[in-house]
Amino acid sequence: MPAPNAQVTIAITNFKGGVGKSLLTHLLAAEFAAQGHRAQIFDTDPQQSTTRWYVLSKQRGYKLDDIAVFSASGTLEPDQPSVDKGATLELSSTTLKARLADLPPCDVLLIDVGGYWSEEAVLLYSLCDAILIPVVNEATSATQAIEVGKVLQNIARATGRTIPYRAIFNSVTHINQNSMAMMETLAELKAAKFPIAKPFLTVRDWYARVGAGYGTLYEWQEAIRNDATLRPWQKKRMMQPIEAAIDGVKVINNEVVAMLEQSI
Ligand SMILES: Nc1ncnc2c1ncn2[C@@H]1O[C@H](COP(=O)(O)OP(=O)(O)OP(=O)(O)O)[C@@H](O)[C@H]1O
Ligand SMILES: [Mg+2]
Repeated sequence: MPAPNAQVTIAITNFKGGVGKSLLTHLLAAEFAAQGHRAQIFDTDPQQSTTRWYVLSKQRGYKLDDIAVFSASGTLEPDQPSVDKGATLELSSTTLKARLADLPPCDVLLIDVGGYWSEEAVLLYSLCDAILIPVVNEATSATQAIEVGKVLQNIARATGRTIPYRAIFNSVTHINQNSMAMMETLAELKAAKFPIAKPFLTVRDWYARVGAGYGTLYEWQEAIRNDATLRPWQKKRMMQPIEAAIDGVKVINNEVVAMLEQSI
């Protein structure tokens, strides 16, 4: 069953918390939008971190023109921000289906799926054309990724439709890649024959800035380009790390597109 009104649907998920799901959702939405697609994010995490990112970014004057964000719980409205509400909201499959049906048409629907296993997570996965599962250098993130994989295999058995999914490492350059934790994480994924994306998300200040509610990398790039107070050499120096950060997202985006082609 495809998502109503969306050309393609991609979930970013892991039952393990704090692995970069929301950040990767924001970065990919901006990249799809930069490529001319109508990108939309459906924030189904009761913590509403993606909605918070959107609301804070708007308050701070970022336009986010090409990205629409909808909260499944509907408690944070971008035009009437109130970031304190909604943290405890429970979602039912019925509410979720109703909200999904209400979403306007888009090319790419990215779903930030928060929380542990739930009927709602299963429902959302079953709508997807591809699923990205961020993992960090901690074995629990692999264990939980494998749990997501099991759900996806059950969906494939029940529906006859195989949804491509891959784990994607986040923060790998930040840590010693030969550390015990890293080896354990990799060993777990390999033992489960878990598909792993080639690119990984590196740790970057620019990603942290975006994640903290400061718009998109593209808006920063635009702002520097148009800043008349900066000399060309200053612009160049400021642009370099942003371009590198954008390139890092582009390779992940390419991987997602390859997964989508696999699902056709
Ligand atoms: N590669 C990275 N570079 C810089 N900052 C990062 C990176 N990955 C994650 N972060 C930051 O780490 C924090 C946790 O990431 P994020 O909120 O995206 O994780 P999550 O999996 O969505 O967490 P939750 O389970 O709470 O929803 C955020 O502040 C985010 O901006
Ligand atoms: Mg999150």
